[in-house]
Amino acid sequence: MSYPYQIKSLEEYKAAWKKSVEEPEHFWADIASNFHWYKKWDKVVDWNFTEPSIKWFEGGKVNITYNCLDRHLVDKADQPAIIWEPNDPNDHHRILTYAQLHEKVVQFSNVLKNNGVKKGDRVCIYMGMIPELAIAVLACARVGAIHSVIFGGFSAQSISDRLQDAQAVFIITCDGAFRGAKDIPLKSVIDDALVNCAFVKRVIVYTHTRTAVSMIKGRDVWWEDEVRKVETAGNPDFPAEVMDAEDPLFILYTSGSTGKPKGVVHACAGYMVYTNYTFVNVFQYQPKEIHFCTADIGWITGHSYIVYGPLSAGATTLMFEGIPTYPDAGRFWDIVDKYKVNILYTAPTAIRSLMAFGLDPLKNKDLSSLRVLGTVGEPINEEAWHWYDEHIGKKKCPIVDTWWQTETGGVLISNLAGITPAKPSFATLPMPGVEPILLDEKGNEITENNVTGNLCIKSPWPSTIRTTYGDHERCRTNYFATYENLYFTGDGAYRDENGFYRITGRVDDVLNVSGHRIGTAEVENAINMHAGVVESAVVGYPHDVKGQGIYAFVIYSGTHGTPEMVKKDITATVSRIIGPIAKPDKIQLVSGLPKTRSGKIMRRILRKIAEGELDKIGDTTTLLDPAIVEEIKKGKV
Ligand code: WT7
Repeated sequence: MSYPYQIKSLEEYKAAWKKSVEEPEHFWADIASNFHWYKKWDKVVDWNFTEPSIKWFEGGKVNITYNCLDRHLVDKADQPAIIWEPNDPNDHHRILTYAQLHEKVVQFSNVLKNNGVKKGDRVCIYMGMIPELAIAVLACARVGAIHSVIFGGFSAQSISDRLQDAQAVFIITCDGAFRGAKDIPLKSVIDDALVNCAFVKRVIVYTHTRTAVSMIKGRDVWWEDEVRKVETAGNPDFPAEVMDAEDPLFILYTSGSTGKPKGVVHACAGYMVYTNYTFVNVFQYQPKEIHFCTADIGWITGHSYIVYGPLSAGATTLMFEGIPTYPDAGRFWDIVDKYKVNILYTAPTAIRSLMAFGLDPLKNKDLSSLRVLGTVGEPINEEAWHWYDEHIGKKKCPIVDTWWQTETGGVLISNLAGITPAKPSFATLPMPGVEPILLDEKGNEITENNVTGNLCIKSPWPSTIRTTYGDHERCRTNYFATYENLYFTGDGAYRDENGFYRITGRVDDVLNVSGHRIGTAEVENAINMHAGVVESAVVGYPHDVKGQGIYAFVIYSGTHGTPEMVKKDITATVSRIIGPIAKPDKIQLVSGLPKTRSGKIMRRILRKIAEGELDKIGDTTTLLDPAIVEEIKKGKV
């Protein structure tokens, strides 16, 4: 049985998967031949997980923006590439055709060049969800610079840490961003970040909200002025830079179980091939369809399924600046209706928050254009799954539950819309090229079904993480050292009698708050920076809308204000150090923490308390001071 690029039946899926694991080189060579290469690769894949060293399409020469833009100019020049819906529904929307997007990316590539950006340079992008963000990303890739997009919810301190880690000397930002009723002063956050980053040479500022900004002579320039210079010079062409397959394409920082975020690095060719292949297959994209992914480009979902996957497939991608509840909880449905969206890809947390508004916001909204629904970011509970199915998909749209990670670049486990079976709350089956396995505590493979274990992947797929920027050893210890010769995901999973996977959640100290990944150690570090805080311990607890909420137990010795004021000060500190996205939902001031005799905090106990399972705390006799548990139980917030 053979299979096409776009899998069309369960049998074809099985044939593709079988071929992909038995003859990965043949399989991926077939898939990769659907792209434009300046030069074909010498070797499809070369890898070992011990260093780790993972190389795909080595010897190949390629540029991802050529594949996203130039090659579509022949037959899709006038087709919308990006549809942009502003935060305020009364403002004008924008549509950029492939020809227009290409022109703007070429123009901005020239701006980058004129400002000294060269192949291999790191460029930090800190912008709201406007088309210029996609243009900046694509222009970096076109000139061969490594972009590092930072989500707008991160603080000046977080930005400065990332700038230093990546040694990024260029920044692209805008004056401000609109998010619901808020106006976020992005440039001013950048200015604060740069107090500690004198190595930054150039900040390019796009005007969006027209908030007052301080423009520093010699360092800061306006995007519009720079574009005008390129126009005055007659809009010269900028042929895409010829990149080696394994050249880094971007860095994206993500939280882990230590205090410091890791710069996940993806490589040009493998990332391009895999995001395209998964986009086309998971969503079963059809020509001319409108794909609406509600994520922010500051996260991997936006990189892979707003920008690179859809554009490399010649799709029309819809970018939305705002939030689901502004000006009211019907906003997503207005957008679906207005543009006749065909594919809607969102997060369980968004579905749950909209469910809470009931069915009123759906009245008089025509959702009949929808063909496929998707979810990503966290396990979806059955109630949310059924609501999505009944009220949004009207029981006619397959729902794809896509499991993946920043490190995996693209979807690893998911059903294929309408092609392979769905099962509520199950991500189901692996994509071609992906070999999941489950391991027990001792590191032995569990081969039976109806079991739970730690989820690992046996062999590389093209968009496997290549390294953590500037610290390869960290990449090895984090992902490739827990189990020999395996990529460890950090997630637990259950496998049912049909071999379908259900992701049960993180097994490390990483929280998933509204689909955002936050390390408990990072939050603890931030809390501990507050004067008067002696020690803290952060755990997650089930939250109706966010999936997980952040619960902080804090030993505070200061004397400054009432406990309520102290809690507000601690929250402000976290916001200042990491950003508003990491603010604890609950803070409990305690006089001590449950510790073993060797001084280790017993998080298991704190987790039970935070979850409200006060009678399931278990044995506390090994604790240094068992009485503290009673005190903490009494003070639970
Ligand atoms: C973690 C990765 C991948 C894009 C968004 C998040 C959790 C992701 C699912 C899903 C259950 C999921 C996992 C994973 N996760 N998708 N469909 N079902 N859990 O990317 O920030 O790198 O987080 O999100 O725990 O490890 P990320």
